[in-house]
Order: sequence, then structure tokens, then C-alpha cells
Amino acid sequence: MTDPSEPTEHTEHTEPSGRTEASGLPLLAQLRRLAGLPLEQGETLPPQAYTSPAWYERERERIFERDWLCVARADEVAAPGDYLRVDIAGHPLVITRDEQGELHALSRVCRHRFMDVLPPQTTPERGRLTRLTCPYHTWTYRLDGRYAGQLAGAPLMNKVDFGPRERAACRLPAARVTQWQGFVLVCLDAGAEPLEPQLAGLEGRLADYGLAGWRTVAVEAWQDVPANWKVAVENGSENYHHMGTHARTLEPVLPGRTTVLDECEGRWFTMFTPYAHAPGAGPPQGMLLAGLFPQCVLALLPDSAVWVRWLPTGPATHSARFGLLVPPGTEPSAEQLAAARESVRVLQGEDLVAVQGVQRGLESSPGPSSGRLCHLERPLWQFQRYLAGRLLP
Ligand code: FES
Ligand SMILES: [Fe+2]
Repeated sequence: MTDPSEPTEHTEHTEPSGRTEASGLPLLAQLRRLAGLPLEQGETLPPQAYTSPAWYERERERIFERDWLCVARADEVAAPGDYLRVDIAGHPLVITRDEQGELHALSRVCRHRFMDVLPPQTTPERGRLTRLTCPYHTWTYRLDGRYAGQLAGAPLMNKVDFGPRERAACRLPAARVTQWQGFVLVCLDAGAEPLEPQLAGLEGRLADYGLAGWRTVAVEAWQDVPANWKVAVENGSENYHHMGTHARTLEPVLPGRTTVLDECEGRWFTMFTPYAHAPGAGPPQGMLLAGLFPQCVLALLPDSAVWVRWLPTGPATHSARFGLLVPPGTEPSAEQLAAARESVRVLQGEDLVAVQGVQRGLESSPGPSSGRLCHLERPLWQFQRYLAGRLLP
């Protein structure tokens, strides 16, 4: 792997003034410089941070293999035997729930000859199982309690040396898993700091919503979107683009310019956008947008919510998965549900024009120089600090 700190990772840009821009610095030095800027002087990340395979490899190692990642809602795997497939930047996992109600995050790589035990070509993303049987040569793994991932059976292996000790040691590796406010988060690093203390402030901000009890009523997903994962995260973390990208859809209802941004620190952010036409007296109603770095955003309305998680599938591709939530006691009609799904598709269609257009710009040659950030893009400025904390040596 090429070290992103080496000069091979950058392109020199000479401005018309003849001044060499900071983009002439190696990428890590640029990130360090950006993370030291006040918001008023905020700039975009350098384009190479969205295109470089070596930079992506560093993100894989230092973010996706080490930090907590929000991947599901707990009610998507509510009953014993329920499973949900999730792929984390090259790590195929399955979330399962055992008879005791405990969640597990198991590797889907079979311990025989590396087959995906739940291949997307033949198995649904979600389902229910009592055991996990690899479809290649039918080795079978348990899903119950502390034996989750343990080999239960391997046919015709009695003519080779594959004794009880080796069988007992043969199990699908498990990642850490935790629940927070009804979300399921996983972490591939056994030594990572616990998540909950890092989210104490966000928990307080969301307390009035009782989010843990909200229910998933629909899921929409997009695979292999041709844009770096950070382009999608950044797009979903600001309302500045309502006036452009969503000029005829979101902007008339939730105008980005009236957004009030909270001065958050650390790995989460919140902002509130009041409805353009508030329904009568009382406290302002609108959308609370909450973000959880590195790759999750939640948009909370008084009677529904949409949450999104993005995961990279390569240096310049990602998957996006949207969950529609409703508060306890709410039962949307079939028509309401169809309308909500359609609105997610329309808004994501508009956002995809933006994120793919941005990626084309980032990949243009010679690489563009950095742009300036608006005050409404505070979460992007904060995201750079998160990235610096993870990626700098
Ligand atoms: S690879 Fe899974 S049983 Fe052979
Ligand atoms: Fe958008």
C-alpha cells in the first residue's frame, strides 16, 4: 500500500496568481491543516481524499475496521433466528439474534473454503434461520447464545484428521455489537472505546422522541452508487443544498436557510429546520437532523423519521440504505406507506444527481482545488475533525 502521507499522493496546483495552493501538500498534512481551521475559514477536503485508492485503504483500516458503525435497527432482527446481512468495506457480516434476545455480528466467510454463507444472489438480505448452512459444501454453524458461529456439522469430514478439538475451534469470527436508541452498531475492533459515553450528549438531545421504541415500516436501498462514501455522507449532513438539489420538493417545506445548527463537538451533530408553514401556535415544529459519524444520519419529523446509513464498496462507490420509522402506536395505511417510500425515492433520486455530479467533478483532471464551506455546512467542518482524529498518525 502506498502511504498517503507520501508526496506521490498529491498534485500540485498553481493558481493564476502563481501561488502554490495548500493542495500541493501531501494529503495527511492537508487534513491536519483543515482540522485546525475555524469554521469561518472552512474548506472542503482535497479532491484526492475522495478518489485515492491508498486513502480509501487508510479509511478502511482506521475507520471501518476500528470504529463503531451504525448498520441497522434492532427491530429488523427482532425475533430469535432473525438475520440481516451487512457488508462493511470488504467484511461480509450477518447480524443475528439468539434465543436469549442477544445480538451477534458474525463473519459470513465460511471456515471451510471462504464461501459467503449467505450469498446475495440466492438469499434475501433479511430472514429467519435456526442454523447457518453454507450453500457450498453445507458446513453448518450454530446461532444460539454463546455458541453463535460455532461449527455444528461438516459432512464427510470423518476420513481426514478433523477431530473434536479442531471442530470446537472452528467458528465464524464475531464482531462487537451494541444497541443504542434502537439502532444496532457493530465494531470490528475488540479494543475500541465503548460507544455509549461518546453519544451521551446526543442521547439528551433526542430524549423527547423516545427513539428506541420507533418501528421500521419500510427500507429502501441503493447498491454501488458511483461516488465516494464521504460525498454521500456530506450531502446528507447539510441542508444548504435544499435550495438547489431539492428546490421543488424539500425547500418549499423545509427551507435550508432557516436551519439552526447546534454547536456540537465529537462524533455527532444536530440541527433543526422549522417547517416553512408552521401549523398554528406552540413550539416550532420541523425536522431535527442528527448525524452520527462516520456514516449515519437521521431525519426526525414529529410523526415519522428516515435514517440512512452509507457504506463504502470501493474507493469511489458506496451503498445507501434508508429506513422509514414511525413512533409507537402509529400504524401508517398502505397509501401513506407507498407515499413515504415514493418520497424517499424522489429525494434520493435528486441527491444521486448531486453526489454523482460531485464525484465527476472530483475526478476531473487536473484535480480541482478546494472550495469554501458555508456556515450551514458546519457538520462537514466537524466531520473533518473526526476524520483527522482517525486518520492522522
Ligand atoms: S466453503 Fe462453506 S462448506 Fe465449503
Ligand atoms: Fe438531499
